Amino acid sequence: MNAIIFDSNTGFTERYAKMLGEKTGLKVLNIRDKGSLPKGSEVIYLGWLNAGGVTGFKKARKYFNVKALCPVGLTPLDELPDKDVIKRYGLKDLPVFYLRGGFDMDKLKGLYKLLMKIMISMLEKNFKKSGNNDIYLKNRIDGMKNKVDFVSEENLEPLIDWYNQQ
Ligand SMILES: Cc1cc2nc3c(=O)[nH]c(=O)nc-3n(C[C@H](O)[C@H](O)[C@H](O)COP(=O)(O)O)c2cc1C
Repeated sequence: MNAIIFDSNTGFTERYAKMLGEKTGLKVLNIRDKGSLPKGSEVIYLGWLNAGGVTGFKKARKYFNVKALCPVGLTPLDELPDKDVIKRYGLKDLPVFYLRGGFDMDKLKGLYKLLMKIMISMLEKNFKKSGNNDIYLKNRIDGMKNKVDFVSEENLEPLIDWYNQQ
C-alpha cells in the first residue's frame, strides 16, 4: 500500500484519514494533490457521502489502484450504508468500510448549506405531520441543527484489521 487519499468538505473525513495515517504509517494526501503520486499507486480511499455518492471516488479510481474504500457519512451503521455504496458503484471485490462522520452546519458553505437548510425544514414539516411523535426523525433534525461528531478510533478497527492482513 502506498498511501491514504481523502476528500473532505467539513473535516470529518480528513480526521479519519489522518488517524489512519498515524495507525498505519502510510502517507496521507488530499485527492487534490494526487499528481504527487505515480498513477496506479495502491491506496486506501476515503470520501464523504453526498446524496449517496462517495465524493472523489470516481476520480480516485481512474488515477489510483484503490484497494479499499471508506465512505464517511451520517447514516447510522444499522442502516447498512456500505451496502448502498457497493450497489451504487457495482463493486464486487473491493473492500468497503463505512465510517460514521459527523455534521457541522457552521462549517458548510454555499449550495451545500442551502440544501441542508431546505432538508431540515422538510424534516421539520414531516415531524409536525407525525404529531411530534417520530423520535427517529426528531433525532435526525437535532443532529443537523446541532453539531454531531461520531469520529472515533474504534470505528477504524475493522479497517486496521484488514490492513494488517494484507
Ligand atoms: C449536501 C450533503 C449531502 C449529504 N448526503 C449524505 C448521504 O447521502 N448519506 C450520508 O450518510 N450522509 C450524507 N451527508 C452527511 C456527510 O456525509 C457527513 O456530514 C460527513 O461526515 C461529511 O464529511 P466531511 O466533514 O469530511 O466533509 C451529506 C451532507 C451534505 C452536506
